[in-house]
Amino acid sequence: MTVPKLALSDNTGEALAKTRADVVVVGTLAGEDGPVLAPGAAAVDAAFDGRLAGLLATLGASGKAEEVVKVPTLGKLPAGVVLAVGLGKQGDAVTPEQVRRAAGAAGRALAGTDRAFVTLSELDLQAAVEGTILGSYVFTAYRSEKGDAPLAKADFATPGTGTAGTAREHKATLKAAGAIAEAVIVARDLINTPPNDLFPASFADRAKKLAEDNGLEFEVLDEKALKRQGFGGILGVGGGSSRPPRLLRLAYKPAKAAKKVALVGKGITFDSGGISLKPAANMDHMTSDMSGAAGVLASVVLAAKLKYPLEVVAHIPLAENLPSGTSYRPGDVLTMYGGKTVEVLNTDAEGRLVLVDAMVRAAEENPDYLIETSTLTGAQVVALGNRTAGVMGSEGFRDRVAAIMQATGENGWAMPLPEELRADLDSRLADLANVTGHRWGGMLAAGIFLREFVADGLDWVHIDIAGPSFNTGSPWGYTGKGGTGVPVRSIAAVLADIAANG
Ligand code: BES
Ligand code: MN
Ligand code: ZN
Repeated sequence: MTVPKLALSDNTGEALAKTRADVVVVGTLAGEDGPVLAPGAAAVDAAFDGRLAGLLATLGASGKAEEVVKVPTLGKLPAGVVLAVGLGKQGDAVTPEQVRRAAGAAGRALAGTDRAFVTLSELDLQAAVEGTILGSYVFTAYRSEKGDAPLAKADFATPGTGTAGTAREHKATLKAAGAIAEAVIVARDLINTPPNDLFPASFADRAKKLAEDNGLEFEVLDEKALKRQGFGGILGVGGGSSRPPRLLRLAYKPAKAAKKVALVGKGITFDSGGISLKPAANMDHMTSDMSGAAGVLASVVLAAKLKYPLEVVAHIPLAENLPSGTSYRPGDVLTMYGGKTVEVLNTDAEGRLVLVDAMVRAAEENPDYLIETSTLTGAQVVALGNRTAGVMGSEGFRDRVAAIMQATGENGWAMPLPEELRADLDSRLADLANVTGHRWGGMLAAGIFLREFVADGLDWVHIDIAGPSFNTGSPWGYTGKGGTGVPVRSIAAVLADIAANG
């Protein structure tokens, strides 16, 4: 979908008297005795003779997180409506994530509105922009009746003098936040596209178009090339489908690159489990098993858009995991790219098989960092739930990525790779088995499997997004139903951190 058109605006009485916006968004905080107006609401409050908080209290508002209350302006402002959105408890400081979620809730409530003036940016411009864009996102490509159109234009109050930053910096922040949110939407659109239309070759076509539009190197290996070059994991997993597998490589190579970062994302366009078939209940959710692929594709495009001074190369293995007469079987031994052999004990543990082919290929280019993300295990959801990703890998880099994920609101949590699980992956006849044969620590065992294919000394991270990548519940904050786009914002933040600090 298209994102709203963005602009900055003063947040004064004069500016409000002239705005062409239909709705003005203000933030409220939950104070001890009812709603309290957040910074940014002063000019609007003045138009209400300082009585806006009282009016909101009369209407039952409390300021609790994501509460939305609409007030008609009755001619006090050219905009017809003030939309008050709750930020939650009034504490020491409002966090960026509080702002992002409130802006998201407002963005959802603004469906059908053409233009909004958002004052939450006085608290945090980047978070307000990201939240507004992501909250207003809807995926209607497959509906005959599209319903209310999402917000078309958003003006953001320029952060006031209290918050540091020049006009130029605010413009740069607006642009970066817009590009980041757009990248999340690129990922969401791919995830939300159903598997009858999104399969390895069609994903490759969409990636090629994005690469061409953004000046990226693009390479696609088809099934013949995969065979010639020995990508046994991708070929094994993809063998059961009439729609053959692919391996993509997209590279952003600026003139001056301080570091090289490799990205790898799991691209199972549908995961039925294969011969080790999944139960029918919720199998449709496996349309999202390419969320890692969508995330790294969106991220390498974003790196080019924001011109990070880094070389960023995305490697994306794509396959459809289906049972058929040509499927790989439990008991098969696959020779992975690079020569290691794996005994397949469960065809539903397919992600790790396509991933290690791509990770070994990625490592050939000697990156400084390897970031891999995947909807890898149901055990991730059991351990951490639907909104917290599991972060594993080399310890220093793992902790750095987990901390950044906390800061972005994408909530990653560092997880160990316990040594004793390694022996459980021993195979009767190959170098390694693809599962342990028991349920314990399933997320960690998958991480240990991946580690077997990573050279000692390489800084790498594995982000298991099985839960956080796809929202099967109700919309919340800036997250609608379906694909969430996690961990695109965190990858962007990690790249920015590497660009700044090495
Ligand atoms: N794609 C699934 C993991 C998954 C489960 C993602 C739920 C999102 C929601 C993965 O390929 C899988 O099937 N993993 C197995 C591994 C097991 C066989 C060791 C699992 O988690 O059951
Ligand atoms: Mn599976
Ligand atoms: Zn899978």
